[in-house]
Amino acid sequence: MVRTPICERLGIRHPVFGFSHSLDVVVAIADAGGYPVLGLARELPHEVPQLLDEARRRLAGRPYAIDLMLPSQVPEAARIEDLRGALPPAHVDFVQGLRERFEVPPPVKESFFTSQVRSQALFDEQIEAVLASDCSGVATAIGLRADLIERAKARGKLTFSLVGSVRHARKAMDMGVEVLVAQGYDAGGHTGPVGTLSLLPQVIAVAEGRPVLAAGGIATGEQVLGTIAMGAEGAWLGTLWMAARENHTPPALLKRLVDSASEDTLITRAHSGKPCRVVRSDWIDAWQQPGAPEPLDMPLQQVLTGDVFASMHEHDDARLIYEAAGQSVFAIRGETTVAAQMAELVAGMERAWRRLERLAA
Ligand SMILES: Cc1cc2nc3c(=O)[nH]c(=O)nc-3n(C[C@H](O)[C@H](O)[C@H](O)COP(=O)(O)O)c2cc1C
Repeated sequence: MVRTPICERLGIRHPVFGFSHSLDVVVAIADAGGYPVLGLARELPHEVPQLLDEARRRLAGRPYAIDLMLPSQVPEAARIEDLRGALPPAHVDFVQGLRERFEVPPPVKESFFTSQVRSQALFDEQIEAVLASDCSGVATAIGLRADLIERAKARGKLTFSLVGSVRHARKAMDMGVEVLVAQGYDAGGHTGPVGTLSLLPQVIAVAEGRPVLAAGGIATGEQVLGTIAMGAEGAWLGTLWMAARENHTPPALLKRLVDSASEDTLITRAHSGKPCRVVRSDWIDAWQQPGAPEPLDMPLQQVLTGDVFASMHEHDDARLIYEAAGQSVFAIRGETTVAAQMAELVAGMERAWRRLERLAA
């Protein structure tokens, strides 16, 4: 069994870190011996306290982290109705044209995407909830807040930061972040222009011995062991878990993920306003066509399109549905479980280890 120092430090069996927005996936990753990371960036603020109570109850003292997206260039505070009224008319017309062309029904359920705007006030509320929770780690992506890092450390929570460049890594180091997650271009979600294999050694070089994890495009145990051989203390995976039953992935999205190869993912600003790797669909393709407007900046792009994103997920629209997904999508072949995925990752690490042993002999 391959273990690294961070496994001892966190009390986990395997050097596998699993990001998910689903508490069921998070609990299953803990059960399987990995380190789960619960994303809070899509939660309705009034539902966060209940979710974190449930996390406390179901994880029952096992280690887990909570992840926040903290971009700096968002309003101090904002109401979605006010921002909707201020959207550029050409963008509003374009999206209305797509709604009509694709016959998008309005979403019925309230969701983050139909009612919330990313703002500093929202982040403040999320930060207080995370600090009050019993999570053993706090992760941040897209941006960093010195107050969060300092207060999380003072509460004994291990701090992680997703970094996509050497510049981001240096910034996180300067703020005292304890674990750097080198997240490459291959990753699902918001990502920079450098591939995981090139980014990892550069981040390790500036980490001054602090643990570094590898993220982006990783979905096999052989890859996990490869990054450990390069100096990472583990791998951080996101896309793979969407194939797990515990993720409750809408059937049309699961089918799209199964049918998609690495090249069916692309980086677009059409999802959030910031470059984000997603799996293609007719909705994403419509934003790449000649004549389509440049997506708006974060948070306005989600004010403009959030209802459509919510609708395609609620109604499981086979043409439009997409999600953040990495080049790692190649490993999704059908519905499975987190336990089976972890067993396969561990088996892959062992295969790679034996291969190296034979070569060394
Ligand atoms: C559906 C989805 C949503 C994501 N949302 C977030 C998020 O809210 N915060 C975050 O730090 N990373 C997020 N990520 C990125 C993951 O943390 C991770 O870095 C990435 O998935 C690794 O690459 P992979 O997708 O190839 O495994 C998301 C990834 C996916 C697939």
